This record gives sequence, C-alpha cells and structure tokens, in this order.
Amino acid sequence: MERTLAWDGSAVVAVDQCALPHARVTLRLTTPDEVIDAIKRLAIRGAPAIGVAGALGVALSAHLNDGDEDAVRADARRIADARPTAVNLSWAVRRVLERLPEGTKALLDEALLMVDEDVRTNRAMAALAAETVLRLTDRRPLRILTHCNTGSLATVAIGTALGGIKALAESGHVAEVIADETRPLLQGARLTAWELAEAGIPYRLCVDSAGPAAIATGLVDVVMVGADRITANGDVANKIGTYSLAVAAARSGIPFVVVAPESTVDESIPDGSGIVIEQRAAEEVTAFGGSQVALPGTPVFNPAFDVTPNDLVTAIVTERRVIEQRPGAELAEVARGLYRR
Ligand code: MRU
Repeated sequence: MERTLAWDGSAVVAVDQCALPHARVTLRLTTPDEVIDAIKRLAIRGAPAIGVAGALGVALSAHLNDGDEDAVRADARRIADARPTAVNLSWAVRRVLERLPEGTKALLDEALLMVDEDVRTNRAMAALAAETVLRLTDRRPLRILTHCNTGSLATVAIGTALGGIKALAESGHVAEVIADETRPLLQGARLTAWELAEAGIPYRLCVDSAGPAAIATGLVDVVMVGADRITANGDVANKIGTYSLAVAAARSGIPFVVVAPESTVDESIPDGSGIVIEQRAAEEVTAFGGSQVALPGTPVFNPAFDVTPNDLVTAIVTERRVIEQRPGAELAEVARGLYRR
C-alpha cells in the first residue's frame, strides 16, 4: 500500500478512511479547515496519522498565508484542538510551528521530515514488537487479539501494533488474528479486517464484547494494541474497549502489549486521570449503518477512549525501547525511571 498521507506541492493528500473498505477514495485537502474536518470526522484517524496530518496542515497554512505568522498560529491552534486525546496531534503541530521564524519552506521541510520519520519509526517498532512478543509467549504459531486499527491507515507506513503483527506474520509466527469490530465507528471491522486480508494474514472478526470471552476461553496468546497517549507512569489511553481486554488478559495470565511511538508518550501528565477523553456524538451510538436503532433523543455515553492502568500492561514497545513489567519493579516505577532523561 502506498503512503496513507502525503504532500503534493499544494495540498495534503490522504486515504479517506470513511470510504474504506468499500471504496478507495483519495482526499485532496487544500485548506486547513479541510484538514481539520477530515480529522474530526475520522477520514484521517489513528494517533500517528493525525499527528502527521496536523503537521502537514500547519505547513499548508504557511503555504497559503505566506508571511502572516499570526494567521498560521491561529490555524495551528485550531488544528491542534481538532481532537483532544491523542497527544501526537498537539506534539506534531508544536514541532512544526517551532520552525515558523525560518519561513514557509522550513515548516514544510519539518512536516515532510515527520512523514519520513513515521515510516522509519513504524519499521523499528514492528521489529521490536515482534521480538518482544516472541520473548513473552511460548505457543507457536501465535493467536493474537487486536483492537481498533493500528495499521498502515493509522500511520504513514505499516502501523504500530498491526505493524508488529505483520512482522510476526512475515516470519511465519501468526496462526490467527482476532480483530474486534471496535464499536461505534467500526475501525476493526472496516479497516483492520481489510488490512489483514490485504496482507494475507488469517483473521476472524468479533464483536467487542466477544474479545474478553475469546481470551477467557483460551483462544488468544497475546493482546497487541496501540495507544493515543501514554502518561509518565505508563498508564495508556487507547480506543474504548481496550481496558476490558487488559483486564481479561491479566485474569487469564496472557501478555498485554502496547505498541506506540515515542511521540505518544506524554511525560507532562503524571497518570491516566489527567488525560482528556474525547466524547463523541450521540448519533454514533443511537444509529447503526445509517439507520436509527435507539429511540430518537436517547441519552448516550460515548467516550472515544479509555485508560488502561499501568499494572495491567505487560510491556510498552516504542521505536527505541521496551518498558516492561518486571518482578519486584512495577511498570509505573520502570516507566518513571526510563522517562527521566
Ligand atoms: O478514534 P481513532 O480511530 O483515531 O482511535 C485510534 C486508536 O485508538 C488507535 O488504537 C491508536 O490511535 C493507535 S494507532 C497506531
């Protein structure tokens, strides 16, 4: 698959994740507002992808507002606020904005550097995740459960957790992937199942509530997920439904492995209680496939993410390190020690 995100000289080019798997549509986003809209409606989604899209969006603003630093700063603020939970977005916007005094070309150079970096980061994470999972498990080939979409679509290249799964499959270590459908927006059913099929990896799709049951009945050897924000103590925010998988994995004694780039680590927040969880529209829950299911006006609780506390996480794998639960040293302590530089 070609890169999920690119710059064509005057616009941000992105795979439209709302159209998949039924249609392959390429978006050409020519204004910062179009970039913001694509991020908000999840046409571009996944923490690393929205970070890179945000960076390209700021570069686009600079391209359109040549010389008007205030206008670029205002666009950058709006882009960073498009979604609150994945730290990659505000991190990427801030990083590109730092080049503002050097002029338009410097912003674009920085954004394009981040596109290339994400490709390298994906590869390094996939290799380290595969190695870590093989070390933490005995059964071969592996049965892996994953949640949401953490693949090519969620990044620029091969993905985070799904990148690791692809690396494991390439070396013949995957018997089956169980993919949660990921209610309410079905990133698992629409995107992960599609990516697994494209990669030729055996998989089955299940409803989210079947994930913990699959673990409890011995159908899963390891859970591999991504992250939207990892706090200083190793707490992990990820797609709603992740927490129940971590509880089930701990109860069954199988490893729960988080794969995410360093740009997802937010050392400024001590623990998961400080993470802002995005709340999304009621219609995502009250309707299904465009048809109203619940009575109109039904009140809804629709958080897009949940927080898995560090004691349920076996290992966090980034592109350059593994932060791991060790006997006698809780992940929280290990994380704090490692994050201190
Ligand atoms: O709401 P989404 O689809 O953007 O949520 C995405 C996730 O929760 C992913 O697991 C996370 O961003 C990691 S993607 C490599």
